[in-house]
Amino acid sequence: MKNFKKYLAPIVLSCATATATSVQAGEVEVLHWWTSGGEAASVAVLKDLLEKQGHSWKDFAVAGGGGESAMTVLKSRAVSGNPPAAAQIKGLDIQEWADLGLLTNLDPVAKQGNWDNLLPKVVSDVMKSDGHYVAVPVNVHRVNWLWANPEVFKKAGVGIPNSWEEFSTAADAIQKAGFIPLAHGGQAWQDATLFEAVALGMGGSDFYRKAFVTHDMDTLKSPKMVDIFKTFKGLRKYIDKDSAGRDWNIATNMVINGKAAMQVMGDWAKGEFVAAGKKAGVDFACLPAPGTSGQYTFNIDSFAMFKLNDAENAKAQNALAKTIMEPAFQETFNLNKGSIPVRSGMSREKFDSCADASMDAFNAAAATGDLVPSMAHGMSTTSYIQGAIYDVVTNFFNDDSLSAEDAVNRLAQAVKAAM
Ligand code: GAL
Repeated sequence: MKNFKKYLAPIVLSCATATATSVQAGEVEVLHWWTSGGEAASVAVLKDLLEKQGHSWKDFAVAGGGGESAMTVLKSRAVSGNPPAAAQIKGLDIQEWADLGLLTNLDPVAKQGNWDNLLPKVVSDVMKSDGHYVAVPVNVHRVNWLWANPEVFKKAGVGIPNSWEEFSTAADAIQKAGFIPLAHGGQAWQDATLFEAVALGMGGSDFYRKAFVTHDMDTLKSPKMVDIFKTFKGLRKYIDKDSAGRDWNIATNMVINGKAAMQVMGDWAKGEFVAAGKKAGVDFACLPAPGTSGQYTFNIDSFAMFKLNDAENAKAQNALAKTIMEPAFQETFNLNKGSIPVRSGMSREKFDSCADASMDAFNAAAATGDLVPSMAHGMSTTSYIQGAIYDVVTNFFNDDSLSAEDAVNRLAQAVKAAM
């Protein structure tokens, strides 16, 4: 938090006086990291709907799942006093950008579109700064999913696992049958995505919140956390040796084409299955990540809007915000993206069984206290603490000389230092 302000505060002044005269009237530049097959098909829906209103879309795509690279590029654009009109910014980061005075007030669009009544309060609170809308939500992703290729399971003669014990039994059989049990890409955010699923399943929702939302030191250093790290490390042997640096969608593709049996990944993975013409419940299965049935790790994508000086561009920016919350966009985008609409009251008709399950699980988990924000996807904590957790998790996963006990101590220290 402190670091963020230190880094960007000097540029606030220059941004406030920057002009947007170099861009054409009615243009919005949109920064995002949606470059995989399913993601690109999804963002194309927004571009299309905006262009149909006579505005132009300047694409500012920065490849890299999870958005770390995109955020780095965004910071350097902001530093040079030239942020885009809209940027994919999520969770607590929205507040950080708003605190710098760089975001524009979307209240008139929100009022006209009735956002307060159409969004769950837990979502609208995140989109606001000092009670004013500065960002607009796109979707709700469930992160704690297990994606499976049923054909591979059939060939290996085992069932799709519901717990980490069952996972090991199935994975051993799958390996024996000549397949890769777990498709994974060795990137810090993917390691963290797998890790948080293990933590949620083994620790439960309250433990998860204490560790990743309130950062209780006793929880971070607990024997339970040591067990979680051990189980997490135990998954390493089910991943192929070429996983280093692999993109998440390449890993999904290994499940799609039957080279691998499973992937633990948020439901943007479904976007890849769908883009490949695969059907939920037939060609692929979606199950809660082992041990997390009834729990829901949420990840909400959103666009924050930066202050603009050009009146035409500001109009286009408002049109973009308005369009994002409209039913036509919410439906088509989410069908492609694998997520579910964030706007309430949408018809479920066109959504598949995985989306149905996600919608049911969201409501059920909200009622039982099992709806938790994703640490790996910037929902639960600041990007500084998230980065600190990423480092420990990924180093431990890739370095055999580090014990689980050491890793847990490092975790607590790293989180404390980033607070
Ligand atoms: C997440 C983002 C998703 C998805 C994923 C992989 O952080 O919220 O929309 O695209 O990264 O790129």
